[in-house]
Amino acid sequence: MKKDLLSEYDLERSDYKCIFENAQRLKRLLQEGKEYSPLKGKTLGMIFDKSSTRTRISFEVGMYQLGGVALFLSSRDTQLGRGEIIADTARIMSRYLNGIMIRTSSQTSVVEFARHATIPVINGLTDLLHPCQILGDLFTIIEKRGGYEGLKIAYVGDGNNIANSWINAAAKLPFHLDLACPDGYHPDAAILKRGMAEAPAGIVLNRDPEEAVRDADVVYTDVWVSMGQETERGERLKKFQGYQVNQALIDLAKKDVLVMHCLPAHRGEEITAEVIDGPRSVIIDEAENRLHVQKAVMEILMR
Ligand code: CP
Ligand code: NVA
Repeated sequence: MKKDLLSEYDLERSDYKCIFENAQRLKRLLQEGKEYSPLKGKTLGMIFDKSSTRTRISFEVGMYQLGGVALFLSSRDTQLGRGEIIADTARIMSRYLNGIMIRTSSQTSVVEFARHATIPVINGLTDLLHPCQILGDLFTIIEKRGGYEGLKIAYVGDGNNIANSWINAAAKLPFHLDLACPDGYHPDAAILKRGMAEAPAGIVLNRDPEEAVRDADVVYTDVWVSMGQETERGERLKKFQGYQVNQALIDLAKKDVLVMHCLPAHRGEEITAEVIDGPRSVIIDEAENRLHVQKAVMEILMR
């Protein structure tokens, strides 16, 4: 594996396998109550420029469980927020810490941070990508279905960071990805083009949610208004009409379909309460698995 986890596209199939096997082992150790401290004496810095519930807690708790310590660094309270340059921040933090997780808007900034840092940098969400989420999602699918090979995964809604990350994963792994996104809200054009050219089991972009979810093994959605897009809310709610994941849509998928969502969710917008709280939903296990896959990544990168 490379020094950093900045994009799922940087992971080879063997890296995915290694992360998932390690996550499974770490999850079992935790469930058996066995202590395992490979990161004893190590420190992770967590730079948050945007809100978080799952990412913050799972990284902080994960680091603690692995014997290390995590520092919450709100960019508002560090000199980064006052304009200290990324290069200096990355080089200096590398002298104090053993790893850094960053959540911020700009993917370019995260890449730049990693270029100057001599320690591993993990992308905890940008406007472009959310690799830790997709690792947790795929691990959940493996747990529920024994693997992802040959599955049809349908993504309905905004062509946002989560959609882009799904495309990057589909560029490397043997599952089929069907996306349904309204005009004007397609995934990143370069990521989509590359994904379509390289995906072993294919990627399709539809305008029609019904087409996308027909016989799907997994139906995935995310919010219509991501962090930072709050001023576009009214416009977006109009444009996404017809893209709601509701029971009528789920009825077109396979009977044993897994309903997934990265959370936080807006019941009544991108998904109905009936579906997200219904028998096909695996959202809580999915959220839990963020902890196990991120511990696996941290152990691999920081040990
Ligand atoms: N899914 C996810 O990353 O959640 P948070 O924004 O709460 O971290
Ligand atoms: N697309 C959402 C994901 C949150 C985990 C956002 O960027 O706000």
